[in-house]
Amino acid sequence: MRKIIALVAIVLAIASLTYFAACNNNKKEEPKASTNTDSIQKVIARGDYLANHVAGCMDCHSKRDFSKYSGPAVPGTEGQGGEAFSHDLLNAIPGVVYASNITPDPETGIGSWSDDDILKALTQGINKKGDTLFPIMPYANFNHLAKSDLLGIIAYIRTLKPIKNKVPERHLMIPVSLAYPGPALQKSVDSNMAPPESDPVKYGAYLVNAADCGTCHTPFVKGAPDFSRMFSGGNKFTLPTFKVTSSNISPDTTTGIGSWTAERFINKFSIARDEKGYNYNPGKENTIMPVRFYSGMTDNDLAAIYRYLRTVPPIKNKVEKYPK
Ligand code: HEC
Ligand code: HEC
Repeated sequence: MRKIIALVAIVLAIASLTYFAACNNNKKEEPKASTNTDSIQKVIARGDYLANHVAGCMDCHSKRDFSKYSGPAVPGTEGQGGEAFSHDLLNAIPGVVYASNITPDPETGIGSWSDDDILKALTQGINKKGDTLFPIMPYANFNHLAKSDLLGIIAYIRTLKPIKNKVPERHLMIPVSLAYPGPALQKSVDSNMAPPESDPVKYGAYLVNAADCGTCHTPFVKGAPDFSRMFSGGNKFTLPTFKVTSSNISPDTTTGIGSWTAERFINKFSIARDEKGYNYNPGKENTIMPVRFYSGMTDNDLAAIYRYLRTVPPIKNKVEKYPK
C-alpha cells in the first residue's frame, strides 16, 4: 500500500504540476497533501468499483448467501474466502478448489504480501508460496487489465477488514498445469491501458474480459472452454438448492440475446440494485451469476457490454435455463 501511495503521489505530483502549469497563474495552488489524499481515494474508489461490481473478487472471495437471489455476500465475510468450487458444482472442475482469504489478515490472508506479490497472483496466477493457482481464479483475464486498474484493486483489497479464516487446501485430480491448456502468462502488465470509454465496443470488451463473462457462458468440452463457441452458454451448475444452465448470450436471434434491446439487457442487471428486486427467496429459479454484484455497474458500462456482445459471432445453441 505504501508503495502504491508513493507511486500515486509521484504520478499525481507530476500530473498536478502539468495541470497547474497549463492553466497558468490564475489559480491558487492547492495544498499538495490534500490533492494527493483525494486522488488516493479515487484510486481506491476505482478499485472498489472493479472488485465489487466488475471483476468478481468480492463475489468469489466472500461467503455467498444463496437463499437470496443471485447469492449476495454475507455481510461481514467480505474477502474471507472459503467458497468451494468443485466437480459437484460444475463437472469441468477436476476436484475442489477453495477461494483464498484475500483480507489483510497476516496469517490466514494476504496481509504479509507485497503489492508485487499480489500483482503476480492476480496477473500470472503464481502466489507468494510459488504455487500456480487453479484458473478458476481468472488471472488469464486479469493479465489484460490496465496497470492502473490493477493497482486500484490492490489498494482497495488492502482496505478490507482483516478476517482470520483458514481456507482448506485444494484437492485436484490432475496437475494444475493441465487444468486448462491456456497460453503461458508471462506477459508483463506494465504497459497495459484501458481502451477509452468513448469507444463503447472496445471498452465493453475490456469489461467483459474483466468480469469474466466468458468462462460461465462458454461451453466446456473435456474440462476446457470451447472458444469456437464463445458466449453460447450451456454450462450446468448444480448448487445444493437449485440447478441452472448458463444462457446463450451471443447475438443469435432465436437462441441467444440477438433480439434484446439495450434496455432489456441493462434491466437484467439493474433490477438487482434495489433490495426489493432481489432480496427474496427465488427457490429453484435462482442463479449463480453474480447479478447482485454486477448490478452496481453503471448503466454506461452495462450499455458498453451490450454493444460489445452485439459484435461477437452469433451461435445457435438452445439452452434450458432451469434443467430438471
Ligand atoms: C471465479 C472466482 C474468482 C474470482 C472472480 C476471483 N478469484 Fe481470486 N481466487 C479464486 C480461487 C478459487 C482462488 C484459489 C486458487 C487455488 O487455490 O488454486 C483464488 C486465489 C486468489 C489469490 C491468491 C491467494 C493465495 O493465498 O494464494 C488472490 C490474491 C486472489 N485470488 C485475489 C483476487 C482478486 C483481487 C480478484 C478480483 C480482481 C479475484 N481474486 C477474483 C477465485 C476467484
Ligand atoms: C458464475 C457464472 C456466470 C458469470 C460470471 C456470468 N454469468 Fe450470465 N448467466 C449465468 C447463468 C447461470 C445464467 C442463467 C440464469 C440467469 O438468467 O441468471 C446467466 C444469464 C445471463 C443473461 C440472461 C440471458 C437470458 O437469456 O435470460 C445475461 C444477459 C447474462 N447472463 C450476461 C452476462 C454478462 C454480460 C456477464 C459478465 C458481466 C455474465 N453474464 C457473467 C452465469 C454467469
